[in-house]
Amino acid sequence: MTEKAPQENPLDEGLSLRKTPDPCALVVFGASGDLTHKKIMPALYALAVRRLLPPRFAIVGVARTDGSDDAFRKDMQGAVQQHARDPFQQDVWDELAAQLHWVTTDFADAGGEDKLHDLLGKLDTEQQLDGNCVFYLAVPPPAFPTIVDALGKRKDERGWTRLVVEKPFGHDLASAKALTAKLREYFDEEEIFRIDHYLGKETVQNMLALRFANGIFEPIWNRQFVDHVQITVAESIGIEGRAGYYEQAGAIRDIFQNHLLQLLALTAMEPPIDFTSDNVHNEKVKVLRALHAPGPKSVVRGQYGRGFVEGEEVAAYREEEGVAPDSMTETFVAAKLYVDNWRWADTPFYVRMGKRLARRETTIAIQFKRAPHPPFEESAAEGLRPNVLLVHVQPDEGVSLAIGAKVPGQGMTIRTVHMDFLYGGAFRTGMPEAYERLILDTMLGDSTLFTRADEVEEQWMLVDAIVADWDRDKPAFPNYPAGSWGPPSADDLLQRDGRSWRRH
Ligand code: BG6
Repeated sequence: MTEKAPQENPLDEGLSLRKTPDPCALVVFGASGDLTHKKIMPALYALAVRRLLPPRFAIVGVARTDGSDDAFRKDMQGAVQQHARDPFQQDVWDELAAQLHWVTTDFADAGGEDKLHDLLGKLDTEQQLDGNCVFYLAVPPPAFPTIVDALGKRKDERGWTRLVVEKPFGHDLASAKALTAKLREYFDEEEIFRIDHYLGKETVQNMLALRFANGIFEPIWNRQFVDHVQITVAESIGIEGRAGYYEQAGAIRDIFQNHLLQLLALTAMEPPIDFTSDNVHNEKVKVLRALHAPGPKSVVRGQYGRGFVEGEEVAAYREEEGVAPDSMTETFVAAKLYVDNWRWADTPFYVRMGKRLARRETTIAIQFKRAPHPPFEESAAEGLRPNVLLVHVQPDEGVSLAIGAKVPGQGMTIRTVHMDFLYGGAFRTGMPEAYERLILDTMLGDSTLFTRADEVEEQWMLVDAIVADWDRDKPAFPNYPAGSWGPPSADDLLQRDGRSWRRH
């Protein structure tokens, strides 16, 4: 096999600066599943288009379902054609397809792992993969321990081994700790890559660039200047046929425990001394450790009823297939949280997230305090709102700063206007998908954008405390119509403090 020379990459200004990973095999457990089709394979294709895959490489799909190399290749071609962000290029695909292999096996059977190890041994010899392997667990969590035991016992000590674990990482603190303990029987923390795909998003990483590459924000990024922070992770979609999982998880475990708390941690953390994995994790952990919800009244939960989303009538959560007709699973959470440290003491972080909300929108809004004394007549500044720095994580990725400006004319009327930076306008490249970055980082051995054991545990600690309070009462569900911005009690949460959610 010939080695591909790393090339100047016109397609991606940022990614082209990355190194090419060592030769390796990538083994995907759950290769017949949704994640492989919609995220993993399209991401690998995008990396292939940009010549960022290792020079010698093999992808092995593992599942219990029957299959063959050819069937896998055909199936994955369909996935790429349907979900990849780049136009389909036959030559790129042919090269990638030749690296795809299939193994049907069940690790729960005695010797179930033999077939995989035989194939890996053969590929390693033929392609000189130097014993390097990424094992990607894209399977439901109950399957983890069996697979991990089998892999751990036969770890190839010649090269490196890395384990990628999809969320949910546990169901609560105890199960997350137990899972980490299981993984640590065979793997070091540096070999474990816990995915929170929000960290792979460009705009989420840009929060770090915004804060730490610009001298002007840091001095005002604290309780003295910031009135409060609002973080919204709103989805217009419902549960998309995932009732089995969602009924157990609910909004608090599906998004609050991971994506939302990570956004908060990146917003509130201290500057790390550098961007090495441990230094970034250390700062995030400090925030998560300092986080608390001040009592049951500061957390609101909701569940959607019927309604109209983007003009279309949709069913109530309890009417979704596989959902119990009296389900008490929440599809919305809003909370007022505090970070108990010198930077943020007494500064509320209002967060909300939910399914079947009015539209898809993930934003982080830093609302600054009002100017101490505006020298204008009150009526002149009627349309003026406090300064807000708004990070649009998705869609319409960018950053906007709300400032007061004089309305042209003879008088002195002030109104809020927006200074906008839009990714689409500023950069000539498209936005990489989160999984491209995360898969590449795994192969490069960089775990900065993954979550460390202690981080996940801190996240669970907060969630466990909230859920324990919930066990005490039963709200009347459904309590918000699909297509709205959640239950009225979410508005009360801010109104009690004389504030309101950002206008949409
Ligand atoms: C996943 C959740 O982690 O994130 C889903 O399980 C959710 O319920 C998804 O829809 C949202 O991801 P994104 O990238 O579309 O915002």
